[in-house]
Amino acid sequence: MIGRLNHVAIAVRDIAKAAAVYRDTLGAEVSDKVAQPDHGVSTVFITLPNTKIELLEPLGEGSPIGKFLDKNPDGGIHHVCYEVPDILAARDTLKAQGARVLGDGEPKIGAHGKPVMFLHPKDFCGTLVELEQA
Ligand code: CO
Repeated sequence: MIGRLNHVAIAVRDIAKAAAVYRDTLGAEVSDKVAQPDHGVSTVFITLPNTKIELLEPLGEGSPIGKFLDKNPDGGIHHVCYEVPDILAARDTLKAQGARVLGDGEPKIGAHGKPVMFLHPKDFCGTLVELEQA
């Protein structure tokens, strides 16, 4: 069902500092910071030859990554994103197998303008999984 690894997301408190680590220390291609108020985060994308890294910084009150950063003050891997060809078909197949979809169970438009949804980490080896329609 799942296809390519679209990105690995890393939550950080200071996205400018994190972007500088990837740009200056690791020599990667780093995007500008983009505010995503609908998702309560700002993002920077780092383009690698085979995938992307998504840096996430809290934006506004009640950011969905606020609690994660309280538990992981130095930042850390927040989720992995896998591509699927048909997100509604993937959701229905996963739900039929007992997996929990977060939120209202309907895909939302994600940071790349494509439908995404998140799956409960307890059902996936302790890792928050994002599915993105390729
Ligand atoms: Co993501």
